[in-house]
Amino acid sequence: MSKFWSSVVSGLKPYTPGEQPKVPGLIKLNTNEHCLQPSRHAMAVLNAMTPEALRRYPDPECTALRSAIARCEGLSVAQVFVGNGSDEVLAHIFQGLLSSSESLVTLDITYSFYPVWAALYGLQLKTESLHDDFSIDVNRLSAQRDSILIANPNAPTGRALALKDIKRLVDSNPDRLVVVDEAYYGFGSESASTLLLEAENLIVTRSLSKSHALAGLRVGYALGSAALIEGLTRVKDSFNSYPLDASAQLVAEAAIQDEQWLNESSQTVIKNRLELTEALLDLGFEVCPSSANFVFVKHPAHEGRVLFEHLRESNILVRRWDKAPIADYLRITVGTKAECAALLQCLAEKCAL
Ligand SMILES: Cc1ncc(COP(=O)(O)O)c(C=O)c1O
Repeated sequence: MSKFWSSVVSGLKPYTPGEQPKVPGLIKLNTNEHCLQPSRHAMAVLNAMTPEALRRYPDPECTALRSAIARCEGLSVAQVFVGNGSDEVLAHIFQGLLSSSESLVTLDITYSFYPVWAALYGLQLKTESLHDDFSIDVNRLSAQRDSILIANPNAPTGRALALKDIKRLVDSNPDRLVVVDEAYYGFGSESASTLLLEAENLIVTRSLSKSHALAGLRVGYALGSAALIEGLTRVKDSFNSYPLDASAQLVAEAAIQDEQWLNESSQTVIKNRLELTEALLDLGFEVCPSSANFVFVKHPAHEGRVLFEHLRESNILVRRWDKAPIADYLRITVGTKAECAALLQCLAEKCAL
C-alpha cells in the first residue's frame, strides 16, 4: 500500500495465475501448456533471428502475422487483431468494446480473469449459473439484454457449446456484442469464427499458448468485423504500439502456417485425453466431458484438497480452486503419456477401488 496508489489500484483484486515453480522433476499439469514441443518450423525461425531484426522496431501492425491468420480463417486482414497473449486482447475488448454498455453477462463458473477486467474497466459483471453438470442454459443466457462473454470450451470445466447454440446467442440480439473466448480451441470444439462472414456483433479470441504450444511466446488474436477490429487497434495504439516483438511475430506466423503440426498435435492431445479420461473413470472419478487440453474431475470419496496435496507431495502439480461449488474438483492438464501415467499411479494410491 502506498499513498501514491489511485483509488482504482487500491480497490483491485488482481488475477492469480497458476503457479510456475521451477522445481526439478516437477510434473506440471496446472496451467494447460501443450504436452508436445512447438512446430519445428517455428523453432527454426526463432533460431534464425538476426541481430538486425532485433535492432529495428518490429512492424506495429503485425501485417505478415495477421495475413497468415486471415488466410487460415478465410477472413480479410482487417478482420484480425493480434496482441501479447489473448489476455491482452481480452483486456482491450473490455476497455474498447464491452465498456460501451454498463454491464455484461458471463457464466458463474468460468475464467477468473473476467471479473478482474470488469472491475478494472468499471463494468458491472452479471453471472448466469451453469447446470449441475456444468452445461450452459442457452435459453436463459440469450434472454439476457447485456453483452455476453463466454469461454468456449469453458474453463475450468472443459465443456464446449455447439456452434448452433453460439449462433442462437449471436442471432438473438444483433444489438449486443457476443465475445467468444476460444483460448482452448483446437482440441475438438467447433469455432464460432465461421459466423463472422455474416455476424457484425461477434468477436472471437484465440491463443497460441495452448493449441500451438507457444505459451512462452505470448501471442493471441481476435477475429471480428473490420469495425470491431479497428476499435481494438485504437485501444492498442493508445497504450502500446508494439505489443508483439519481432521474434513473436515471425515465430507465430510460422506456427500458424504449419497446419500439419497443428492437426497431428491436436490428435495426440485428444488421444491422450481419451486414455486419461478412461483411466480416471476406472479409478472412480467423475470426469466432465472435455473439448480442451485438460480434464475437470472429482472423486466422490476423496476431497479435492486431499488429492491435490497428495499429488503435490509427489511433485505433481494440478490446479484447484478453493471455492464452492468446485472445491472438490481438480483441473488436470492432458500431459504426455509418461506424465499421465505418473499422475494415475499417484492417484491410484489414494483412490483404487
Ligand atoms: C479461458 C482462457 N482465456 C484466455 C486465457 C489467456 O491465454 P493467453 O494469454 O496465454 O493467450 C486463458 C489462459 O489460461 C484461459 O484459460
